[in-house]
Amino acid sequence: MAVYVVDGGKRLSGEVKIQGSKNSALPILAATLLCKGECVLFNCPRLSDVDASLSILRYIGCKARREDSTLIVDTGSVERFEIPPELMHRMRSSIIFLGAMIARFGRARMSFPGGCELGPRPIDLHLSALREMGAEINEEHGELDCVVNDTLRGASLSLPIPSVGATENIMIAAATARGTTVISNAAREPEIVDLADFLNACGAKIHGAGESTVVIDGVRDLKPASHAIIPDRIVAATLMAAAAATGSNIHFTGIIPAHLESVIPVFRDAGCEIALSGEGMRLSAPYRLRSPKLIRTMPYPGFPTDAQAPVMSMAAVADGMTVFVENMFLSRYSHVSELCRLGADIRVEGKVAVVDGVKRLLSAKVRAHDLRGAAALVVAALCARGQSEISGIEYLERGYEDFELVLSSLGADVKKI
Ligand code: UD1
Repeated sequence: MAVYVVDGGKRLSGEVKIQGSKNSALPILAATLLCKGECVLFNCPRLSDVDASLSILRYIGCKARREDSTLIVDTGSVERFEIPPELMHRMRSSIIFLGAMIARFGRARMSFPGGCELGPRPIDLHLSALREMGAEINEEHGELDCVVNDTLRGASLSLPIPSVGATENIMIAAATARGTTVISNAAREPEIVDLADFLNACGAKIHGAGESTVVIDGVRDLKPASHAIIPDRIVAATLMAAAAATGSNIHFTGIIPAHLESVIPVFRDAGCEIALSGEGMRLSAPYRLRSPKLIRTMPYPGFPTDAQAPVMSMAAVADGMTVFVENMFLSRYSHVSELCRLGADIRVEGKVAVVDGVKRLLSAKVRAHDLRGAAALVVAALCARGQSEISGIEYLERGYEDFELVLSSLGADVKKI
């Protein structure tokens, strides 16, 4: 297994273009199943989670090839309506294929994606919504066996939690269902809007994506289309944390500032200067950061849970105390014990983490246990004095494309070994 060896304490400088969004690419790849032809997706990041989606599409019988950052997916011919457990277990969000498969085939068989490194991640909302739309779903021995006897029907669905994955599964299933589907308390994340934009480019009729109520008028079928994936706001937030923690000055390109509206104020509170211009942003960090005081993770447009871990590494070297409240997942502090090995002063009590900023972190050997936790350890190692070694890099590679090369291009000393 690869490790990162990081010689910390270097200032970063230069320009970085933000990769395409993982959380947009995954549901859009699943949605290509509805198009029965060749879709072209630009700005698709090279990640193990994207590869996992491509493996599922290929197993089903689709063709997929990559030309640099462009993916060409041909879902014209398919052979199977099942996904084997080894592919389902490669990533939790493979559940997003459920809506797409029952919409395309009226059948789907797959194993339960189960829990993950963030604690239990139920899919009850996905299943109850698809049942309301006419899918019969049997759950036995960890398997989901779904059949639609007639056709999927539009339904009025109210989500108790604005679940991103459930909203996406419903939107995909509803795109070609008979009648109108209304999702109340829908997730409002930019990735939901990107999925709607892709589906609408294919001929779907989806209104209100990005708002709490999404209305989907089912159409007969969808046609293949081309689409550019939005930039990854979490990768941007991670690199902002890396720049801030190392007292650096970095120019970001290819971002959508509106997607960072809850993130930018945290960096300003910490004393960073942020200048926005079109799709660009310059972040200049002070010599010593101030603590951002309070960070509460919330559904969009609140502060993203995915940015909690990398921003905690920044808070670990800020002057003063920062309180984090993790409202989205039960077990999202696995990076804390490793940050403490690097010299951070952090205490966790339930969903609250209290970070007492220290002047500097010290190098150590640490291990990542999840994707964003891995990113947090890299940020911390970049500002720690001395050489750190980070294992568990396979988690990082689920969401960050060539991260060691990106950081090296900014002047960091990071080697993947
Ligand atoms: C997506 C993102 C993930 C992000 C999360 C929250 C992708 C591929 N992943 O995950 O990076 O951290 O949104 O912004 O886009 N829940 C239920 N029942 C369900 C579904 C969800 O109880 O059927 C709960 C979850 O346990 C969690 C909360 O709802 O506590 C939010 O989950 P959800 O928005 O569904 O996250 P994901 O779509 O899994």
